[in-house]
Amino acid sequence: MALSRVMRFGLRMTSFPLLLSCVLLVSQVCSVSRDNFKRCDQSGFCKRHRAVDPGHSPYISLFDTLDIQPSQISVELLNTKNNVRLRLELFGLQHQTTRIKINEVNPLKPRYEIPVGDVLNAEPQQDTLTVVEKNDDHITLSLEKSIIVLNREPFRIDFINDDEPTVSINAQGLLKFEHLRKKKEDSQEKKEENEEEKASCAEEEVQEEDEPDMWEETFKSFHDSKPNGPTSVGLDVSFPGFEHVYGIPEHAESMALKSTKSSDPYRLFNLDVFEYELYNPMALYGAVPVMLAHNEKRTVGIFWHNAAETWVDIASNVADKTFFSKMADLVKGSTELPQTDTHWFSESGIIDLFIMLGPEPSDVFSQYGQLTGTTPIPPLFGIAYHQCRWNYNDEDDIRNVDAKFDEYDLPMDLLWLDIEHTDGKRYFTWDGSKFSHPDEMVKNLTVKGRKLVTIVDPHLKKDDSYSVYSEAKSQNHLVKNKDGSEYEGWCWPGSSGWPDFLNPEVRKWWASKFAYSSYAGSSKDLHVWNDMNEPSVFNGPEVTFQKDVLHYGGWENRDVHNLYGFYVHKATMDGLLERTGGEERPFLLTRAFFAGSQKFGAVWTGDNMASWDHLKISNPMILSLNLVGITFSGADVGGFFHNPDAELVTRWYQAGAFQPFFRAHAHLDTKRREPHLLPNANMLAIRDALQQRYSYLPYWYTLFYWGERNGGPVMMPLWVEFPKDKSTFSMDDQFMIGKALLVKPITEQGSTGTNVYFPGNDLWYDVESFQTYNGGDTTYVRAGLTKIPVFQRGGTIIPRKMRNRRSSTLMKSDPFTLFICLNREGEATGNLFIDDYHSYNYKNGKYILKGFNFRKNVLESVTGHKDYQTDEWIEKIVISGFQVQPSIAILKGSVSGQKELEVNYDIVEDNIIIRKPGVNIAENFKLILQP
Ligand code: NOJ
Repeated sequence: MALSRVMRFGLRMTSFPLLLSCVLLVSQVCSVSRDNFKRCDQSGFCKRHRAVDPGHSPYISLFDTLDIQPSQISVELLNTKNNVRLRLELFGLQHQTTRIKINEVNPLKPRYEIPVGDVLNAEPQQDTLTVVEKNDDHITLSLEKSIIVLNREPFRIDFINDDEPTVSINAQGLLKFEHLRKKKEDSQEKKEENEEEKASCAEEEVQEEDEPDMWEETFKSFHDSKPNGPTSVGLDVSFPGFEHVYGIPEHAESMALKSTKSSDPYRLFNLDVFEYELYNPMALYGAVPVMLAHNEKRTVGIFWHNAAETWVDIASNVADKTFFSKMADLVKGSTELPQTDTHWFSESGIIDLFIMLGPEPSDVFSQYGQLTGTTPIPPLFGIAYHQCRWNYNDEDDIRNVDAKFDEYDLPMDLLWLDIEHTDGKRYFTWDGSKFSHPDEMVKNLTVKGRKLVTIVDPHLKKDDSYSVYSEAKSQNHLVKNKDGSEYEGWCWPGSSGWPDFLNPEVRKWWASKFAYSSYAGSSKDLHVWNDMNEPSVFNGPEVTFQKDVLHYGGWENRDVHNLYGFYVHKATMDGLLERTGGEERPFLLTRAFFAGSQKFGAVWTGDNMASWDHLKISNPMILSLNLVGITFSGADVGGFFHNPDAELVTRWYQAGAFQPFFRAHAHLDTKRREPHLLPNANMLAIRDALQQRYSYLPYWYTLFYWGERNGGPVMMPLWVEFPKDKSTFSMDDQFMIGKALLVKPITEQGSTGTNVYFPGNDLWYDVESFQTYNGGDTTYVRAGLTKIPVFQRGGTIIPRKMRNRRSSTLMKSDPFTLFICLNREGEATGNLFIDDYHSYNYKNGKYILKGFNFRKNVLESVTGHKDYQTDEWIEKIVISGFQVQPSIAILKGSVSGQKELEVNYDIVEDNIIIRKPGVNIAENFKLILQP
């Protein structure tokens, strides 16, 4: 994209000479180097927080200000260096969760707090905090199974579970709260003004020396006026007993986070960093300030509820040890407990920290889900295969691509149109010369159960004849400069304005643009993609808004930056819901995101590259997103930039087929690479991967159902299922899809096999050959070009649909095959969620939830919930791991009655096959296998 951005702007220069300065800026940006994005030593508040001396916290808790309520305590904290007071509030919340808020007692003006109802679903439900002990040094409280100790001097909070410390706040003494203040030259004035106020205070504020970059800052040629001066907040959180921490996406990084002792801190600041570098802590498109810590005994999590630019330092007494001290430990037999210390600092806002005390991984997922919401079940087509590229040129192009998928028996559910489909990058419009009959084009897709996705970016071309822009302008909906004038920046259409999505009224207005009457050519079969919503501003500092632009309520972008994309996504989802009166489940993709974005739809990892390293990093990146609630996530299959060779594309499809959001995408300048254009062997391998994906759609769909209910991931690290198995704690090249499938995608060029670690004591079955592997072993598995190493766990039952169709919609009434892989005890269980696959009726109970249980040679199918009619039925049952071959099977159906079925034995795969039980999937039945 780098080059092409320059070329595109270069072309426009002829018609817009005024763009010259932008072209120069853009071309700087386009040289794609880290230099275009801030390092910590180029950010004033980052430097100031990193410079805090550990172990010397100036903060003490003033116990005489203590206020104890049934589920909340508050106490003032005094900074003994400057006499500024803060108020700490500690809330006991339901589900083993605690919230700690720290704000100024007397701020010069309010500090930004994220409105409740958007990121947080609602004001969290409180739970009783009981005072266990109180003396001059500390107060001990209990909350469900946890003990919380608040220390007076220095201020510190420790959480204790099962007699062991699990989370400690300010244990390193790094709390730093830059209170709002007046600039030095005004301070004399302020002193006089506040004379009276101060007389009533016990202590007088001590004026501290200004530190560099407190009142203004320059990065490259960009000047950041800081009308409010320094406003940052920071705190340390330690995890005693934990060596591994995870989360805080988005970074192109391994899943287990690394010590930042010799690097920058991990940065959370939504940015358009194209051609991103791998394995470093630079910020990317989205930010979820949530971290999980896990050891053999428990999992805990924290959520730093702050929308400003944030950095996180990580130190570990294990990772940071030198080689020699590790050797010495080994010889001496060190008894030191592992510990991870983290340090969080944000440029503005308040400290608002949630502590989720687990203790199981599933508890932390549901604790976080209670706070910010869970991923709603996508429509079935949303988890099928998406075919995208920048750009499909016109209606003929779309027709041809669609036809090729049919010709080659390649299933596909959605075709996508990127920015070139619009009239000059005016979103909600069509380029009439190329897309003159959008309705017809969509109809042509829907006859095969397929749909269309169009891109809708948040920048609006400054053109008074473009109604979306002129309305936004006339209704005062656009983001402002600090002097109140309309903010102008550069993006795809050239000079643009940006709706202020922080404003609820603007979101309503934006949502209304998705009404069928407003968006010509749209219908319930047209779905949407929000891109560039960090937002990307080609001529802005770090390719985004400058921090002093103003949003709704007079807040600076500095306060709310990481929420902009979240609100674009939310407003778009609101619009897509409204257009069908809340009946149909839309599909929506976003590039920028924040905590809670899971409520609105899918996320992808942006502009990756067609390289093996980028294929490899897609797994940890999606795992990290899944651990913090963004479960419907994926990466551009094939790699966005550059041209992958056929082997790389093939292996990428195979990985994508087992990642939650599955879309191929490619940059405008790349060669066409739709599967049918590849050599036949590759096309066939891709077809097989696509068909595997489609066969497992019932399983994925059921996982999303549980995900919506419980907040858990659909793609997850092995330790989530095997929490006591230390060897899995940093494993991110193989993962679980739900509880039943283990996947190890091939990510090495020329590979013909890979070592797979089989966790637990279970048996694992290759899903194609049914060869078994023993849990606890690492075994080399052959994987030529057509093979995806995927294994079903012994003890599980997976319903699949094995008939190949053009799209998932056409599979609606297809029959199921139950794949039963027995454990060593000859048992297995599974479940299945079914509804109409596209509406919200499931929320009113219109669904079927089935349970399958195999024990003592009997398969029992029980319906847990049934308020939906379906014609789906069971056409086959495949049982693997049977010790003795039965000869007959008696089926006793609650509706279909009793019948005897033939039992076939597959010698090659060592499976028992029972054909045509013929029962409706909703029916309760027993299948009794007899010798
Ligand atoms: C940037 C996005 O990341 C990419 O996927 C898209 O193709 C281009 N913008 C053009 O819209």
